Amino acid sequence: MEKKWWHQSVVYQVYPRSFQDTNGDGIGDLRGIISRLDYLTYLGIDTIWLSPVYESPNDDNGYDISDYEAIMAEFGTMAEMDELIEEAKKSGIKIILDLVVNHTSDEHPWFIESRKSKDNPYRDYYIWRDPVNGDVTNSLRSIFSGPAWEFDETTGQYYLHLYSKKQPDLNWENELVRQEVYDMMNFWIDKGIGGFRMDVIDTIGKLPDQEITNNGPRLHEYLQEMNQATFGDKDLMTVGETWGATTEIAKLYSDPKRNELSMIFQFEHMTLDQQAGKDKWDLKALDVSELKQVLSKWQTALGDEGWNSLFWNNHDLPRIVSRWGNDQEYRVESAKMFAILLHMMKGTPYIYQGEELGMTNAPIQDISEAQDIETINMYHERFASGYRKEEILQSINAKGRDNARTPMQWDETAHGGFTTGTPWLSVNPNYKTINAKQAVADPSSIFHTYKRLIELRKHNEIIVWGDYELLIETPAEVFAYYRTLNEERWLIVCNLSEQTHELIIPQEATELIIANYDREVPMGEVELRPYEAFVVKIR
Ligand code: NOJ
Repeated sequence: MEKKWWHQSVVYQVYPRSFQDTNGDGIGDLRGIISRLDYLTYLGIDTIWLSPVYESPNDDNGYDISDYEAIMAEFGTMAEMDELIEEAKKSGIKIILDLVVNHTSDEHPWFIESRKSKDNPYRDYYIWRDPVNGDVTNSLRSIFSGPAWEFDETTGQYYLHLYSKKQPDLNWENELVRQEVYDMMNFWIDKGIGGFRMDVIDTIGKLPDQEITNNGPRLHEYLQEMNQATFGDKDLMTVGETWGATTEIAKLYSDPKRNELSMIFQFEHMTLDQQAGKDKWDLKALDVSELKQVLSKWQTALGDEGWNSLFWNNHDLPRIVSRWGNDQEYRVESAKMFAILLHMMKGTPYIYQGEELGMTNAPIQDISEAQDIETINMYHERFASGYRKEEILQSINAKGRDNARTPMQWDETAHGGFTTGTPWLSVNPNYKTINAKQAVADPSSIFHTYKRLIELRKHNEIIVWGDYELLIETPAEVFAYYRTLNEERWLIVCNLSEQTHELIIPQEATELIIANYDREVPMGEVELRPYEAFVVKIR
């Protein structure tokens, strides 16, 4: 496989609303990101995935865009955006923009036009259908609850919205739509960005009349066309958000020979703690054996025909240390363990802001404390259909998106140093003990484990290119694997439980590469402490 810069990168996701406010309005801004580039440089990352910063009415925090070529006033100006790209570049950091083109905002001029009349030139930019027997056209549901079809009085037709009513789906079958999107992408490419993260890209080939949403028949044709029309001949990185990907589908996207994307986000491992056939709110405990099986499959299946992304977190997912670790007694140990487990794998790792501090979920007592549209709509839908309030809140506290969106905890001053005003979403009250300032100053912090992992990746080809092999003879809750490159072999051992476990190290270890407890080079039979993790060189 031809080696590209992004094979060796570590990406840091910034959710601008919650990163750093500099003007006291309680909302993070571009100036805030610029002011924290030194922190990111010190951490060692070389790429930022920036969640949407475009003009938006914020029905879905920027994932509802009303102008792709303008900056949301709350975040700053286009001049500041240019400055961010420039300043980041000086620090050796590339900026990956969020490309949200499955839908726009209903306040986008295209949709304002489209809904005016059936013969408006923009009508076919969106997906309009006549009612069937006076009702929605079929049973497609919105991810944010309720039907995916919304009736529009003006023309007496329904439009499709896989997300909120304020996020009408674009009609990708319309060539004009595709051309507009490519032009917009080129506008940003010309500004010197490093690539795109593509929001729910697997739904652009949908066939709504057949209730097919992801993996539609023309999806890959569109992506190849996009590649040709925009980034294909440039050295950019692209990552598609694809909830419906299997390993075979992942190769269609990321096999370099097919000229589509650099890699995708697959979510199979992220759905292991929900009940089969139900949705994310229907909780189930994680079975570590399943996690091993799923991640090992992804590690080995792509071979030279694709590339993995590696992540536990993003702005839609709860905090990993709260989700599958222990965010109380073993917060530090379990956060480091998850970092080691992921960052020693093959693929491009993503760190979501605050993950490097071991930031935790932020439970709420009442739905009035929630900000996220998905959470709020689900609450009302489930409440109306007979669920108890406590039961719904339990799901929200486990999986709700606000858990990841509480502001970055920079220091122990008011609101964690995020803002001098009132934050748009409350800062997690634990900011006095969990914050960047303390973490940077403490060489044994979670932050320094991440920093070291990033450094190791930069200096050890085995992490980037080595083969992966699961070590099968382990206790169920121990996840251990080998990485091998030429003559070199590393063993990664992670205890995903609070219990101690015995493990025989099959070969003689020569060097301890990284660990989350003080220990000697482990040899022979070792006792793993709660959430213990280490990496040893065995050849
Ligand atoms: C996926 C994004 O990550 C999420 O935050 C958003 O709500 C949906 N796509 C819709 O754009």
